[in-house]
Amino acid sequence: MRDLIIAIDGFSSTGKSTLAKLLAKELGYLHIDSGAMYRAISLYALENGMIHGEEINEAELLPQLEFIDVHFEWNPETGRNEIYLNGENVEEKVREMEVSSKVSLIAKIPEVRAHLVELQRKLGKNKRIVMDGRDIGTTVFPDADLKIFLNASAEERAKRRYEEMLKTDHPASFEEVVANINERDRIDSTREVSPLRKADDAVLVDNGRLTPQETLQEVLEIIQNLP
Ligand code: C5P
Repeated sequence: MRDLIIAIDGFSSTGKSTLAKLLAKELGYLHIDSGAMYRAISLYALENGMIHGEEINEAELLPQLEFIDVHFEWNPETGRNEIYLNGENVEEKVREMEVSSKVSLIAKIPEVRAHLVELQRKLGKNKRIVMDGRDIGTTVFPDADLKIFLNASAEERAKRRYEEMLKTDHPASFEEVVANINERDRIDSTREVSPLRKADDAVLVDNGRLTPQETLQEVLEIIQNLP
C-alpha cells in the first residue's frame, strides 16, 4: 500500500482521537491529535495568567508562541503519543475542564492557528500519518489521501465525553460537559479562520451506533477501496 496522509475531522467527542489512534496502530503510522496542541497552548496561557474570563491577552501570548515547546512523545505504557508542554507531560492536564472551557477561544486566534498548522504540516512531511482535529482536511492537509468526517448524535457525544471525564482526577458534571461541547462546537464552526466544516471530498462516517472497532473496520474498508 502506498504511504498515506489520513485526515479525521468532526465535532467534539465524536471519537476522532479514538479512531485515529486505532487506525495509526493498525497501519503502523504516526498519530497526531491536533486538538492536544491547541489545548497545550491554552494551558500555557492559563498557567501564565494570560486569560481573564473570555479575554485572552494576545499582546502577551503571541510574541511567545514560537518559544513554547509543544511536542509529542510515544508512551509505550499507554500506547499513545502524549503531549508535552515545555518539557512536561501534560496529557492529563490538557483534558481538564478549565482548559476545555478556554481552548476554543485560543483556537480562533489566527496567529495561533498559523503557528500550529505549520508545525502540523512538518509532522506530516513524510506521510504515514493519521491526524485528527477540526481543519485537517480543509486547511492542514487539503490534499490528504483520505479525509474522514466523523459524526454522532449530540446525546451520544456528551455521554462519551462524560464517561471519559469520570475516569480522570478532575471529573465534571454531565451538565458541564454538555454545555462545554455545545459551546466549543458553536465557536469552532463560526470562527473566521478555518471554521469546522466537512471538506467537500471527505467521507462522512456516522459512528453513533458503532463501537470503536466497528468504526475502525469501516474506515479500513474505505482504505482498501482507495484508488
Ligand atoms: O479535539 P479536541 O476536542 O481536544 O480539541 C479541542 C479544541 O481545539 C477544539 O474544540 C477546537 O477549538 C480546537 N481545535 C481546532 N482545530 C483543530 C483541533 C482542535 O480548532 N485542528
